[in-house]
Amino acid sequence: MDVSPLTILLVGSGGREHALAWKIASSPLLKRMVAAPGNPGIATLCEVRDVKVDDVPGMTALAREIAADLVVVGPEVAVAAGLADALEAAGIPCFGPSAAAGQLESSKAFTKAFCDRHGLPTGRYQVCDDVASAKAALAAFTPPYVIKADGLAAGKGVVIAEDRGAAEAAIEETLGGRFGAAGARVVIEEFLEGEIGSLFAICDGHTVMAFGDAQDHKRAFDGEIGPNTGGMGTYSPAPVFTDELIAQTMERLAAPAFAGVASEGHPYRGVLFVELMATREGPKLVEFNVRFGDPECQVLMLRLESDLVPYLWACANGRLAELPTPVWRDEAAVCVVMAADGYPDSPLGGSIIRGAEQDFGEQAHVFHAGTKRDADGTLRAAGGRVLNACASGANLRQAVDRAYACVDRIDWPGGFHRRDIGWRAL
Ligand code: GLY
Repeated sequence: MDVSPLTILLVGSGGREHALAWKIASSPLLKRMVAAPGNPGIATLCEVRDVKVDDVPGMTALAREIAADLVVVGPEVAVAAGLADALEAAGIPCFGPSAAAGQLESSKAFTKAFCDRHGLPTGRYQVCDDVASAKAALAAFTPPYVIKADGLAAGKGVVIAEDRGAAEAAIEETLGGRFGAAGARVVIEEFLEGEIGSLFAICDGHTVMAFGDAQDHKRAFDGEIGPNTGGMGTYSPAPVFTDELIAQTMERLAAPAFAGVASEGHPYRGVLFVELMATREGPKLVEFNVRFGDPECQVLMLRLESDLVPYLWACANGRLAELPTPVWRDEAAVCVVMAADGYPDSPLGGSIIRGAEQDFGEQAHVFHAGTKRDADGTLRAAGGRVLNACASGANLRQAVDRAYACVDRIDWPGGFHRRDIGWRAL
């Protein structure tokens, strides 16, 4: 593909975006990168501008000001706010779907109905918008009960309730306003038995390509206990993904999703994150996300041998058919999330972090997620998930050991992390 070096605007401020910035920065096709709002880690790689991810006019104006050839959208909030739509109107290529296609993440009720319309395999479900009907709906399900807030809740709006009492409490909390407008409706779902996995697929509106796999740990504490989080760690590749499961997932879930949104007038340009359960009947959809996972993206970027930029550009410009399938290093990669005490419910901000920016060696990287830097250079926690200690290795054991070696060199008494990332695969 004949592409001149590009000016890229990267939208977002998390560990996912730091990993994307790190990979993009290594591309010979990069002329200039600006990130907004970025974070202190991203600021070591490129210029950052203080524009909020959901400030669509501000972000579009910034893209115009820097004459961006490509905007890369990290977080779902920017998708749901309609950034890709505004950029399309401004004639600026964007890696990231329209708000309409983005409903595959921004509304779980939309997605379930979409699966019905287009024949995608997923669990039985019921959508309710009041407590009485939601409690009554539980009768049609067996424990454990899966209760989800309909809208965007940063990965925290899902409860797997072991009994009826816990399910009713989750319904009351969700519909009672715990997640604001995102909890105006609940989706009650059948619990799917099997092994969970995350497959990524990219699309330019027509051509579809698989783009790596990973597995995450959603619970806050070791042994898969504690509250659900946005993800406490990931590893890639995920052993659940045989070639057969990847092919089935592409054929039964990813390709029909891209075709479905296109047939409804919303061609998809970007990455689709397919979270699936590998059941005895084959892959069934758990949920879609309309962006790279965080922290799934971090391990994908460590394993991606190919230059990322041509894929981002091709998706935004309808040119994906011109590219070969991406090359992945035959290595394992691991990400250990370091979170602020109190995460996910009430993370404590402001604690001092030391040693996060030392040289961790060739195959290890510590990406910033929720950090801020004082004028004197002091690094502090400024979010729930704060740092991502990532490493690759010849096998998962080596990658895990390297990632924890990074964790152990960081002096941050105000945070916690899990010590068992990757246990299922080890
Ligand atoms: N790690 C899950 C997510 O990005 O939604």
